[in-house]
Amino acid sequence: MTFDLPLPPTPVLETERLVLRPLELRDAPAIQRQFPDLEVVKYLHAGLPWPYPHDGALTNTRESLEKRARDEKFFWVLTLKGGDDAAIGRIDLWPFDGELRDMRGFWLARPYWARGLMMEAAEAVTGYAFEVLQWPFLYLNNAVENQGSHRIKARQGAELIDRLPHAFMSGEYLRETWILRREDWLARKRRS
Ligand SMILES: CC(C)(COP(=O)(O)OP(=O)(O)OC[C@H]1O[C@@H](n2cnc3c(N)ncnc32)[C@H](O)[C@@H]1OP(=O)(O)O)[C@@H](O)C(=O)NCCC(=O)NCCS
Repeated sequence: MTFDLPLPPTPVLETERLVLRPLELRDAPAIQRQFPDLEVVKYLHAGLPWPYPHDGALTNTRESLEKRARDEKFFWVLTLKGGDDAAIGRIDLWPFDGELRDMRGFWLARPYWARGLMMEAAEAVTGYAFEVLQWPFLYLNNAVENQGSHRIKARQGAELIDRLPHAFMSGEYLRETWILRREDWLARKRRS
């Protein structure tokens, strides 16, 4: 199993409709405008502060950039290609530590849902993990009720390996844990 540390710098990734660029401190105001939406946060982690503080995005962006500076995680913001470079969501990726079966997180501002944008972002980040970093697998999670997140894993070719109760921001639900294997994802890409 190869999860080489430290991580390399976060690259810019392009998809058909998106530019994923490294998170910066200047993204905090756009995140603060879009993220504190119960529909966006309800299936995120239980420790999320709510009501969301007025400086919540700034605090979280600073903490994320500190993790990036320690080479622990990748943080991208999603921006629309040909748009104004403003963040409309975020996708994070981090290596397996040998225990925690969780290696990716994402959210998208509500006006942009159900257009296939996060599927595009997830595919780009997965391609980076498997083709560039050569990671052998990704462990992924979602609340069972979170159909959008569930569908992205299923469509990416992940295998559902667990369903256990878990505390989310809005209460306890079953959490689905998946494994997406490098060889399965590459085989799916070759077929498409
Ligand atoms: C989960 C989330 C990122 C999905 O983003 P998105 O860009 O809307 O997803 P996509 O448009 O790429 O859709 C992916 C699939 O999920 C389906 N889907 C999306 N939203 C859905 C919903 N609310 N209910 C049912 N299916 C949904 C799409 O139809 C698509 O299915 P298909 O591939 O069979 O056509 C977005 O809903 C979000 O930000 N939610 C809040 C944050 C969150 O829950 N993050 C994940 C934590 S695990």
